[in-house]
Amino acid sequence: MGFDLVIKNGKVILADRSFIADVGIKDGKVAAVRKSIKANGCPVRDARGMYVLPGAIDVHVHFQLPFCGTISADDFENGTKAAACGGVTTIIDYAIQAKGGSLKEAVEKRRAEADSKVCIDYSLHGGITDWNENTRREMNELVSEGITSFKMFMIYRSQGWMADDAILFQGLEETTKNGSIIMVHAESAFVLDLLIERYHTPEMMAKYGAYLHTLTRPCYTEYEAVQRAITWAKETGGRLYIVHMSSGEAAEIVARAKKEGVRVWAETCPQYLLLTDDVFKDKERGHLYGTCPQIKKKHDQQGLWQNLIKKNIDIVSTDTCTFDTKQKAMWEGDFTKIPFGMPGVETLLPLTYTFGVGKKHLSVNRLVQILSTNPAKLFGMYPRKGTIAPGSDADIVIFDPNKKVVLDYKNLQTNCDWSPYQGWKLRGWPVYTFSRGKLVAQDGKFVGNTGYGQFIKRQAGGKV
Ligand code: URP
Ligand code: ZN
Ligand code: ZN
Repeated sequence: MGFDLVIKNGKVILADRSFIADVGIKDGKVAAVRKSIKANGCPVRDARGMYVLPGAIDVHVHFQLPFCGTISADDFENGTKAAACGGVTTIIDYAIQAKGGSLKEAVEKRRAEADSKVCIDYSLHGGITDWNENTRREMNELVSEGITSFKMFMIYRSQGWMADDAILFQGLEETTKNGSIIMVHAESAFVLDLLIERYHTPEMMAKYGAYLHTLTRPCYTEYEAVQRAITWAKETGGRLYIVHMSSGEAAEIVARAKKEGVRVWAETCPQYLLLTDDVFKDKERGHLYGTCPQIKKKHDQQGLWQNLIKKNIDIVSTDTCTFDTKQKAMWEGDFTKIPFGMPGVETLLPLTYTFGVGKKHLSVNRLVQILSTNPAKLFGMYPRKGTIAPGSDADIVIFDPNKKVVLDYKNLQTNCDWSPYQGWKLRGWPVYTFSRGKLVAQDGKFVGNTGYGQFIKRQAGGKV
């Protein structure tokens, strides 16, 4: 067979095994994975000494999101360029229904924003803020059109995004029939708002600054909501996914529920695995880290790592929602006005490799599971995405496990003028990223084309 490209001599890393092999690519697909493929004159990329990974899939990003009085700084074009530079070959963003509005209209609007801009493949989760016969019908229509996951926010009352327990309960009931999955941002809206009101005084703000973000969101404001959502999943038999889980207690609750047979899955993010809420104590820069849920404590970090190792946490995503220092400055000393979110998609793979595999928490196969295979399986893209096997999309990263990089936002593609990980020493970096066989990034520089990315229709019923 003639190939368009052969990746030679690399160590292919899959979710369950690793082996030295060549990978032959034809028409954007993996055509062969075996030893000693003959190139017969087609282009060859030597990957000796490198890992050949399935591209990472970031199932949680917010590009050009109107939020907190501004718009997140990485749009679909630059955000997907940044993703490619970081070894991410598929992202899933959100299309959030306006309260009282149409879910399908939200999807159409988001697709109109994304389709001509995306540089790698992408999909959308629906965001449900309302429940009525129209929402129910549209949810089912979207499932048959390849949007098979729906986010509900248990907070954000004032933004009009909050889905109350009745909405969540009915959404979960529907998943038992259509095989989709409800993703929840689990925080306790009413207690959270009460605590914010209590601390929102000039005296407190002068004394604590950005650290009030942490004082108003103790761990119980997350784990109570996680427990409640799991209760509804257990009683309805519905399919539930906890997004950006940040506390050790919540991870234990998920672990217990999984053991009981509840259909619940969970993700965490690098910021919760690698940072602690000490970041908010920095008077000059603490507000930059404002994200929601906020970064928690050492014991939470430890609990999240343990549960990631024990497979109670299934996926690591980023919740990328980039705001630069100018946007963050809108807080003017008031913690309730911080635009919530941070950059992340570009550093997902190198950070998780350095601190997961490098620190011996994770095998390199587990890394592939949590960044690639599990996201593809749970969100209905497997085996097209999430593996390197004949017939799968040639979404491939050639990763140098020994490359040392001192992280500097100036060298990144993101439209962000700061990084939560500035100056951190990393070992392991994506050198080449291929999207459907096309080279889209090399040594941290984007070399692909705007609009090359395709919208991926997903299947319902995914599991890991
Ligand atoms: O602070 C964050 N994470 N902003 C994005 C919206 C969300 O809550 O996921
Ligand atoms: Zn905690
Ligand atoms: Zn988010």
